[in-house]
Amino acid sequence: MQNDIEKVLFSVSDLEKRIAELGEVITKDYEGKELIVVGILKGSNIFTSDLVRKINLPLKIDFMVVSSYGNTTESTGVVRILKDLENSVENKHLLIVEDIVDSGLTLKYLKEMLLTRNPAGIKLCTLLDKPARRKEVVHIDYLGFEVPDEFIVGYGIDYAEMYRNLPYVGVLKREVYSK
Ligand code: IMP
Ligand code: MG
Repeated sequence: MQNDIEKVLFSVSDLEKRIAELGEVITKDYEGKELIVVGILKGSNIFTSDLVRKINLPLKIDFMVVSSYGNTTESTGVVRILKDLENSVENKHLLIVEDIVDSGLTLKYLKEMLLTRNPAGIKLCTLLDKPARRKEVVHIDYLGFEVPDEFIVGYGIDYAEMYRNLPYVGVLKREVYSK
């Protein structure tokens, strides 16, 4: 698995440090508010789990499973909701937690869909932002790191469902996905 990685972008300690910083800011911003952290599965599973432990507030955690890609590296623009939220979000403050924003299509769709349910507010936290390939304007409230236009895996992020268990974030060798 490690042999398929071109280079490590963010090490275990880079991730730990940045997520602790994000947690501190989010804790300040949501003081006194009813917060639901909405993890977008499967990619943000690991990030969400680490992030919520750095948010020192009472909160609920919910998950959605969405699928925007088949087993390829290009967005199809089609967002399917495979699992919806279990909590009512009316008058609650939602913090959507994503792994990586690429074209922005997934987030634009999700945000619009969740807004119809009348939450008190929706903010977005993403571990990674790949602005080079943006097709839709997405406002990111909390960002871990910006990444170059390369195919990223690890720390929850997959290629064809693999590499999610790498503890760091790295660039996948091109030969792995172009064969
Ligand atoms: P978007 O709709 O194009 O912004 O895509 C968002 C989703 O595509 C992310 O939640 C990821 O699941 C996936 N994705 C985008 N870029 C990458 C990448 O470099 N590696 C792996 N998955 C990616
Ligand atoms: Mg995803």
